Parts: sequence; C-alpha cells; structure tokens
Amino acid sequence: MMVNHTNQIALLLTLLLVAGCGGSSGDQQAASEDQIEVFSWWTSGSEAAALESVFDAYNRQYPDVEVINASIAGGGGSAARPVLQTRLVGNNPPDTWQTHPGTEVMGQYVVPGFAESLDDLYREEGWYDVFPQPLIDLVSQDGEPYLVILNLHRSNTLWYNKPLLERHGITVGEALSHDELFAIAEQLKAAGVTPLCMGDAGIWATGIMFENTLAGVIGTQRYLGLWDGSTSFEDPDVKEAMTTYGRLLDYLNSDHAALSWDQAVTKLIEGSCAFYSMGDWVFGELMQADLQENVDFGWVAHPGTEDIYIMVSDGFTMAKGAPHPEHTRNILRVMGQKEVQEDFNLLKGAICARTDCDRSRFGTYLNWAMDTYENATLVPTVVHGSAAAADFQQALNDALTAFVVNRDVDAFAQTLAREARMSGFGK
Ligand code: GAL
Repeated sequence: MMVNHTNQIALLLTLLLVAGCGGSSGDQQAASEDQIEVFSWWTSGSEAAALESVFDAYNRQYPDVEVINASIAGGGGSAARPVLQTRLVGNNPPDTWQTHPGTEVMGQYVVPGFAESLDDLYREEGWYDVFPQPLIDLVSQDGEPYLVILNLHRSNTLWYNKPLLERHGITVGEALSHDELFAIAEQLKAAGVTPLCMGDAGIWATGIMFENTLAGVIGTQRYLGLWDGSTSFEDPDVKEAMTTYGRLLDYLNSDHAALSWDQAVTKLIEGSCAFYSMGDWVFGELMQADLQENVDFGWVAHPGTEDIYIMVSDGFTMAKGAPHPEHTRNILRVMGQKEVQEDFNLLKGAICARTDCDRSRFGTYLNWAMDTYENATLVPTVVHGSAAAADFQQALNDALTAFVVNRDVDAFAQTLAREARMSGFGK
C-alpha cells in the first residue's frame, strides 16, 4: 500500500488530540443547529472578499443561518489540508470544505469515504447541463459527482508591471519566449531592477513557476505524458526544463522565501520586481488594489505555454455525516448559481465553472482567460493536486526545496522519476 505523508501527519495529530494534547477542533461539535461551517484556505484580500460574496448570497437566501468561516491561511491549502485531514480522520468534519478536482478530491476524500455524493443536487439544479462534462468527470466516481465547482484559474500566466517595463523601454507582445525573458531579465538586472517576483514561503508557489516552465519547455503532449508514464522525468527535455527553471531562480527577489504569494503581488504592484509567473488568482489581488488592466499591469502566457491552459479549479464538498446536512446542501446550491459564480469570480480573478456566465460582466483579462480556456489544451496541475496523488505532490515539494538550494538537475530528475514510479504512474 502506498504511504501517504499527509495521512501520516494527520494520524499523528489525531492521536495527539485524542490524548488531549491540544487543538480546538473538538469545539466545532458543539456548533449550533443554525450554523454551517465552511472550511477553506481563502484568506488573502481577494480570496476572502470572493468567499464573503458567496456567504452574502447564501445569507440573502437563508438569513437565519450563521456561516462559520473556518479558513486557515496558507496559499494552495498547504496549512489547511493537514488540519482538515486530522478532523476527517477524527470524525469531526466541517460541513463543507474546499478542494481541487482530480486526484485530490478523489484520492483524499471520495475514495476514503469522507464525502457525500451530490448527484441529487446536480439533478435538482440542472447542473449536468451547465457544467462542462470533462470537469464533472474529474469530480465523479461511478458517475456521481462529489464537488460543486466554483471557478477555473489559469495558473500559467506571466504578470508584469507595465509602467516599470515602459520606463526601461520594454514592451511585451502577444507571446514571450524564455530567451526573450532572459534577455529582458539581464537588462533589468543591469539597471538595478529585480526581474522576477516570488513569494514562496509556501513552497508550492515556486512549484507553479517550475510547472509553468516544464510545460513551456517540453510542450503539451510530453507534459501530459508525465502523468501516464509515457514521458520520464529523466528525459533530456525535462532536464532542460529544470535547467531553465534554475536560471529563472537566479532573478528572484532576495526575500522570496519570507513572503507569501500575495505579498509578492504587492512587490509587483510597487514595482520592486517586474514579472511574476503565477496563477491568475494574482488578478484578484490586482483588482483589489484598484489597478487598471493593461495600464498598471499586463500579462502574457508563461513562455512556451501560449496554447496550454494549466487548470486550477476549486470546489466544495459535502461531508459524509455533515453536522448540518440541510444547510450544507443549500450553501452548495447557492455556490452553483450563475450570478453567484459571476460575482465570486469577478473578485477571485477566475472564470466561471458554469458555461453560461455573462461574458459582458468580465473585463479584458478574464475574457482573454475565457478565450484561452476555450481554445487552448487543458492540462492538469500537479502543484494543486489534480495530476498526481498527494504523496507525489509532497515529494515534488521536497524535491523543489532541495533544488532551490543545490540546483542539482540530475538529482532533481532522479528523485521525481523514482517518486513517480512509487506513485504508480512513472516509468
Ligand atoms: C489554489 C487555489 C486558488 C488560489 C491559490 C492561492 O490552491 O485553487 O483558488 O487561491 O491556491 O491560495
């Protein structure tokens, strides 16, 4: 049986809780009948505002229920997921929690039996007709869905501070190659400007830059092949991607390891660094700061990924044995509503999971994102748990932590190839 690091930690924490060594999650069992607990990691300015818009919509329709916002800070859910696991294993689930489609929702929550089928809700609300079938497939077991999907993020976007580049006579066109990016980076560095922004206090953030570089260098088919074993992590083009990623690391702000992903957005806004390779949750932060698209900032696909949409999507489950099943069904019902998805995604910097949202409500960037979603090849993210199981995700984080320091491409490649084999998909 595959050992799962997250589960190991969760088990340990549970034993500590059972032994009375701390934690407050037991208090949640005393939650009143008129409450519902929603668990997520949405705590940055834009994430919190977007989540709040869902709570507001719910409370307009169900005014008598108090929403308990059980968010745990830490982008990508790095801190939230272990806590959640502890609660699930300890039979103390929140009513509903945030998770990603694909291996994460299936491997962590559906297969172990922590989540409830939402087939009835999908039927009642007509969702089988408004959510894209490939997305429904990613959240379904035996034809029954377990997640209400709120949004779609493109995680391979390269953001830039437009006025800063203009001051240095640099314009970015429709596409940018790695070579062009490196040439610009050299020019900026020579002028005393930090070329790339990063906030990887949570290692997943540099993982995004790695994943983007990987897809950009090896291309769609080879990238997809990593997850079915037809591409090896030790292939020469994968190593070339690792080398390119290593070169990018040389241009980061020196305090990157101390910053969260959204603190690095602040640096981008201030102009103390020029580019940020990061998912379009960045767009939510730029909107929160009241910036104007294509004036204060610009964007382009991460080099080489113009035709690729690395998809990061979020949804909410219903806990098996949810303390408040009726309220849970209702808040999920609200999350699937068209206007709620529009309001949420305008704040979140994402596009609707529903196919019938009103495009005219969305601005230039999000329309661009919708066009690429429709025309590019959709590929899963490993950093956010859709492409490979949690133990591989953890191994990737560990390997990235080592690589950022030692820059040893062969060791990086060997480790990932071994871990992929251990996870049952590598060759
Ligand atoms: C992802 C999530 C996004 C975004 C990001 C940073 O896991 O899917 O919605 O919030 O983390 O926290």
